[in-house]
Amino acid sequence: MLKEKVASFTARPDEVDLCVLLYSGGLDTSCMLVWLQEKYNTDVITVTLNVGQAKDFREIEEKAKMLGVKKHYTIDAREEFVNEYIMKAIKANALYQDAYPISSSLSRPLIAKWGVEIAKKEGADAISHGCTGKGNDQVRFSVTINTLAPEMKIIAPVVEWGMSRDDEIIYAQEHGIPIPVTVNSPYSIDENLWGRSIECGVLEHPEVEPPPDVFLWTTPPEKAPNEPCYVEIGFEEGVPVSVDGVRMNGVDLIMKLHELGCIHGVGRIDHMEDRIVGLKSREVYECPAATILLKAHKDLEKFVCTRHENAFKKLVDEQWTSLVYSGLWVEPLMEDLEAFINNVNRKVTGTVRLKLFKGNVSVVGRSSNYALYDENLATYDRKSTFNQLASLGFIELWGLQSRMAQVVKPKSGGIQSKTVKYM
Ligand code: ARG
Repeated sequence: MLKEKVASFTARPDEVDLCVLLYSGGLDTSCMLVWLQEKYNTDVITVTLNVGQAKDFREIEEKAKMLGVKKHYTIDAREEFVNEYIMKAIKANALYQDAYPISSSLSRPLIAKWGVEIAKKEGADAISHGCTGKGNDQVRFSVTINTLAPEMKIIAPVVEWGMSRDDEIIYAQEHGIPIPVTVNSPYSIDENLWGRSIECGVLEHPEVEPPPDVFLWTTPPEKAPNEPCYVEIGFEEGVPVSVDGVRMNGVDLIMKLHELGCIHGVGRIDHMEDRIVGLKSREVYECPAATILLKAHKDLEKFVCTRHENAFKKLVDEQWTSLVYSGLWVEPLMEDLEAFINNVNRKVTGTVRLKLFKGNVSVVGRSSNYALYDENLATYDRKSTFNQLASLGFIELWGLQSRMAQVVKPKSGGIQSKTVKYM
């Protein structure tokens, strides 16, 4: 009974004639490419998205062809990823559980969208991905695919076949699948312009410090230069547009900050994460550009918004981030939240100066024409225009209810007389 129910979620081999595989070129998806042809007796079209991972896309294409793919697509989606996904995350100060810049999460709906687009164009009847049944990515891919193309079947071979890494290696050897040199790496990696995530191996022991070989991008903070680096980022309506006064497109800007962040050991993250499926997992990331940009944006936003806006925006941002993390990019509430987020960001224009030093990034200056800061009011100089006498009456009223409540509070001897003067 349960088996039948599960079966209804996955495609039967006789239902699939042409399958689009979201292909990274790694061992999992390469085994899947062969397995789909073998077990489902289907033609396969592979799609690889360039979202800024350091990969040789030629090599990936050649590998797919060697493994019998009918057609292969390499899509350079870097600009789209930056403009339609990362910039929104910056405006939403997106840090899941105050730690993770949702780098992998953000890329999934984009990859799924391209998978659907190509599947439709090619007349495929199924889309396949290499996610496990324990992670978030399966949810992100499947929810997006099911929404954009309800008729499309989804095949998740890793969930179905339950092969271990060792099984995969044997399968690969038997089927002439090239085994990547990284196969002995104990880690599972996902990479794009916004960050690099590292899981598995010794990282599964939350009490153990991540060993040095986990980090590939960033200099260990203790070995970073002894001289700090200053950098000034310009924002227009919440979007970063320049570095040290030089205007750049989003991709170049992120790459520039990535470079600086890496040199100074910025953006290493180690936190316990709550996954969609209920697991708590230890996650390690390197997100240099994201760490710098999120810090800068938040500081500038706080500078130009009222305290009420700041307090409320935090709730909206958290909701937006949590929806993205949980795979609900297609949820209509996203658009509603974005309307608010964009409206607030209309005034997030100005510059932020930051200092990168031995793994830290701190804001050391900011300026904006929309700042709700007035030196004449704030200064402790004699020239201040702030009327301090106004504070006396303000305090009287500000504490009124709190004082009253203390007087009438139930006490063991009954409440106090209400004849007490409050004012
Ligand atoms: N825990 C992160 C997330 O859910 C990272 C996932 C990385 N994915 C991967 N296939 N290695 O967004």
